[in-house]
Amino acid sequence: MSNIIIDGKEIAMRFREGLKEEIAELTAAGMTPGLAVVLVGEDPASQVYVASKVKACAELGMFSQKFALPKETTQEELVALIQQLNADDKIHGILVQSPPPKHIDEEAVILNIDPRKDVDGFHPINVAKLVLEDESGFVPCTPLGCMELLKAYGIETAGKHAVVIGRSLIVGKPMAHLLMSKKANATVTVAHSRTKDLPALCRRADIIVAAVGRPEMVKADYIKPGAVVLDVGINRITDETRPRGYRIVGDVDFNDVKDHCSAITPVPGGVGPMTIALLLANTVKACRQILAASKG
Ligand SMILES: NC(=O)c1ccc[n+]([C@@H]2O[C@H](COP(=O)([O-])OP(=O)(O)OC[C@H]3O[C@@H](n4cnc5c(N)ncnc54)[C@H](OP(=O)(O)O)[C@@H]3O)[C@@H](O)[C@H]2O)c1
Repeated sequence: MSNIIIDGKEIAMRFREGLKEEIAELTAAGMTPGLAVVLVGEDPASQVYVASKVKACAELGMFSQKFALPKETTQEELVALIQQLNADDKIHGILVQSPPPKHIDEEAVILNIDPRKDVDGFHPINVAKLVLEDESGFVPCTPLGCMELLKAYGIETAGKHAVVIGRSLIVGKPMAHLLMSKKANATVTVAHSRTKDLPALCRRADIIVAAVGRPEMVKADYIKPGAVVLDVGINRITDETRPRGYRIVGDVDFNDVKDHCSAITPVPGGVGPMTIALLLANTVKACRQILAASKG
């Protein structure tokens, strides 16, 4: 079966190149897009994510500011910083790296982010805009990245049956909304931990999006021949042959599945690189909208 390995690195690189011009135009108009990344605590994976977001901004000529706060930071102190960033003219996007320490109420923190600067798309106003298909809102970066991959490879969604495995606010739910939107026109089924006979359900899918957090759960018997498989999962599994003692795998058993589908994203190098690219795109969009509003 003809089988495409979707190259997320390549598509993300092209996408970022496309943003460069827009950033230069905004800078010339007196407003360089700026992203504030707030990290509370010392979670090693979060530190890596934050560093790569800051680096990506610099590569495209965007302004970025990193706030690394100690794990003892109180909710009040964090909210005070967010309010300061809401009022900061150099900042157009605000991101609080998830997960924060347990004593922080993440939902309450998100409510304090100005929805116009909520580039993660977690604020209820942006969630509502996604449901309403109001494109002025911000949509979480990972599902947006999945849609860009489908577009880049000319994969038709209209009239197709898509099964999204996972119903999180960060991936599963927004993914389902994007696929069922009037732009994409897929028929969508959302599966979760209580779904019965998931393999049989997935075998009816033309497109499968796996966002579960279970290493290599999706096997060949989940796949209708010729289906498209997007693997959002990022899981560490022990591998003593690797210098770090682990390797990263997706929610899909790539080697088991790849010969049964028409296109598949690898992990790493599939959906992952698109997430940062879309974060930058959301920040540029926020900057553009704030600039337009300032001109009345
Ligand atoms: N590529 C990226 O940039 C990126 C970004 C975000 C996340 N991720 C990765 O994507 C994965 C999912 O992340 P998330 O934040 O969405 O995770 P999450 O919040 O833990 O949600 C996982 C979802 O999977 C469902 N689930 C769990 N076990 C299942 C099973 N056996 N069968 C069917 N559904 C099951 C859960 O169902 P219930 O609702 O019933 O519990 C839940 O809805 C993780 O590996 C994460 O690291 C990657």
